[in-house]
Amino acid sequence: MNNKMHTEGVVIHWHGIRQCHRLELATGFLATPKTGKHEEDFIFEQEKLKFGTPWADGTASISQCAVNPGETFVYKFVADKPGTYFYHGHFGMQRAAGLYGSLIVLDSPEQPEPFRHQYDDGGELPMMLLSDWWHQNVYAQAAGLDGKDRHFEWIGEPQTILINGRGQFECTLGPARKSFEKLLNENVETCVDDQKMCSDQEKCLRRSECGPYCPRSQCAPVVFNVEQGKTYRLRIASTTSLSLLNVKIQGHKMTVVEADGNHVEPFVVDDIDIYSGESYSVLLKADQKPASYWISVGVRGRHPKTVPALAILSYGNGNAAPPPLQLPAGEPPVTPAWNDTQRSKAFTYSIRARKDTNRPPPAAADRQIVLLNTQNLMDGRYRWSINNNANMLREEVSETHPWHLHGHDFWVLGYGDGRYDPAAHAAGLNAADPPLRNTAVVFPHGWTALRFVANNTGAWAFHCHIEPHLHMGMGVVFVEGEDRMHELDVPKDAMACGLVARTAATPLTPA
Ligand code: C2O
Ligand code: CU
Repeated sequence: MNNKMHTEGVVIHWHGIRQCHRLELATGFLATPKTGKHEEDFIFEQEKLKFGTPWADGTASISQCAVNPGETFVYKFVADKPGTYFYHGHFGMQRAAGLYGSLIVLDSPEQPEPFRHQYDDGGELPMMLLSDWWHQNVYAQAAGLDGKDRHFEWIGEPQTILINGRGQFECTLGPARKSFEKLLNENVETCVDDQKMCSDQEKCLRRSECGPYCPRSQCAPVVFNVEQGKTYRLRIASTTSLSLLNVKIQGHKMTVVEADGNHVEPFVVDDIDIYSGESYSVLLKADQKPASYWISVGVRGRHPKTVPALAILSYGNGNAAPPPLQLPAGEPPVTPAWNDTQRSKAFTYSIRARKDTNRPPPAAADRQIVLLNTQNLMDGRYRWSINNNANMLREEVSETHPWHLHGHDFWVLGYGDGRYDPAAHAAGLNAADPPLRNTAVVFPHGWTALRFVANNTGAWAFHCHIEPHLHMGMGVVFVEGEDRMHELDVPKDAMACGLVARTAATPLTPA
């Protein structure tokens, strides 16, 4: 990666990649039990630990220094596990500023994912990467959150939800759709660029070929082309700065088969909740009559002030180029009410490890860490803190936080209300088929119990994936194997920062 920005540093985090060379390292079977069904994995192999690449995790000030303007840093890691991931900036609020993209690790023909036979050849749809967008730039956002001169300013709700970087704002196709005339007029008035890009403005205006937008416009919904009768795999991931989202496809059900690069016991849903930091694969059968269908992506968990994002599922004839796009008939589906927390919980609780590939966690933990997350007013500034005994946030304003762990997957053992109390809650945890994930939500006024095996030498961030929350301090770092760091094979230019690196006695790779 070469930083071509003139005024700021940058790092890239490979979200979901555990930075280890061996599968066993991360699935957690090296450390504890001596017997059991995966005995070979339990064997502690010192050699393997040398091959981790924690220095390539791309977290500024945790795994490396930010790469300065003009400098180059080479990330090198093994994509050890097939699945749906993404990458993003991890310095300042660069992710919210739009520095992200999808990252798919394909399975191999010799070791196909267990649900591979359930979708058609060629049935891999483009990945749907969700994000949200503010017109205010992130420097202003950060300054507001920092509470400079004690003027705390919350970022507010996004102006647009984006699907693969596209969304509707002025030229809106929001669910409260206006009459076509109005829509057309708005397009004409506000999407000046669209007109330029559209090859035939007249056609666009008449909506004969282009629909009420020009197909190449930034306002045009993303289109997923399918063929009737086939089954598809759709990967969905969310790297939103703030929004908790729900994805619903008009007239179609989805079967959830993967979460964060791990197999889940398949279950069928009408719509899917997705929190920032999470990823899913769903199987989608094109079993409706050939036509176009809306895909709505609406806000959950916060009082929405942003219209749902729209995409289109379009049935074609398979062999030829996609047909001229027809707008779907009817209104886009309405995603569940933002404050229906019970529904969100029901969805989250139904995610279980896939039966035939399930590898349950070690039965007991060697160490228990309780993190209590509160918002505090400190010297006139709002800060999130962990295990701070100071004043807690008022009860009625608790919200949902998706916590993401670097360098690992963890088992999600259970959820509950109130404070976690080992005496009361430990016995009720799911030791049998907890899903492996790298992101898990903590529901309002609730607790979430996770387990992971600390077998990956490195410094790993564990934080709320809501960008402004992270900026305000909602996170910790787990340092693992501190005494073994010297065993790692760390490239020299990962060891020092900017000027220090350039002036250090050891010659470093030139930029
Ligand atoms: Cu995708 Cu530390 O985050
Ligand atoms: Cu949060």
